[in-house]
Amino acid sequence: LPANHKMFDLPIAGIIHVSTPHHYHGAKPGETEEDFATRLATELEETILREGPETVAAFFAEPVMGAGGVMLPPATYFEKIQAVLRKYDVLFVADEVICGFGRTGNYWGCQTYNITPDIITCAKALSASFLPISAIIINDKIFQGLADGSATIGTWGHGFTYSGHPVAAAVALETLKIYDELNIVEHVRTVGGHMQKLLRERFEGHPLVGEVRGIGMVAAIELVADKANHKNFEPSAKVGPRLAKAGEAEGVILRGLANDTIAFSPPLIMTTDEVDAMVDRTARALDAVTVQLRRESLTVV
Ligand SMILES: Cc1ncc(COP(=O)(O)O)c(C=O)c1O
Repeated sequence: LPANHKMFDLPIAGIIHVSTPHHYHGAKPGETEEDFATRLATELEETILREGPETVAAFFAEPVMGAGGVMLPPATYFEKIQAVLRKYDVLFVADEVICGFGRTGNYWGCQTYNITPDIITCAKALSASFLPISAIIINDKIFQGLADGSATIGTWGHGFTYSGHPVAAAVALETLKIYDELNIVEHVRTVGGHMQKLLRERFEGHPLVGEVRGIGMVAAIELVADKANHKNFEPSAKVGPRLAKAGEAEGVILRGLANDTIAFSPPLIMTTDEVDAMVDRTARALDAVTVQLRRESLTVV
């Protein structure tokens, strides 16, 4: 999120970014997902070697990049990334704030992509967002490091004012119980499967839509000016924000992300009928924006 890295003494030192694993924009012409993933794993290895493996603590990733644009990793990406991390003893921190608790069709996004993380961060659906609570989940290796370090200094001196708040914790525990009662993962697989199929059927052929992507109950459609060359509109045309606005007029709340990408991340309890309504309303909004763009002679190739 480039805007989040401007001002306020950001970016902070010591954090290095590698390339975004988004095949649609990042791959070279003709490059398969697997070859793209191999190239990115090589880039990661070269980056670790350049920095010095002993200075690299951890690799952070979301299983599916959410607010960054709902970017699904290319085939074999995490397999190859994890092989590099293991080689240089670099920890894997999985940010499951969006992916956790069923969103991708498994309880954890890590399960969807065969990731064995050392640390998981989670929040949002931990309480179905009814009360603010977040958590980190650590493996034995990390726990032992913390326990040994704490024993040395006599305390675990890191916490938050509201750490372990009993009300939020009680709500989270009840939420997790309800997920089990609802068999939420199965529900996401069924309703999410329907949502993914319908979004592709309805939008892939649309002249403004470059890519429809997603898994489980997270998805996005990316609007482009030139479908053949994956070229976005000028940001100043505000095509994505216009679609979000047109969606509001149709009674559907869409989130506009970078590159005129519109994200869908509906409540996990959504029904297939509600998915149908969401897609119908989005289609009407997209038609309205298409008419607007044609009127303004913003070419749609
Ligand atoms: C993937 C992801 N990670 C982290 C955060 C921030 O989480 P928190 O507010 O629990 O620090 C967000 C917030 O939207 C998020 O989407």
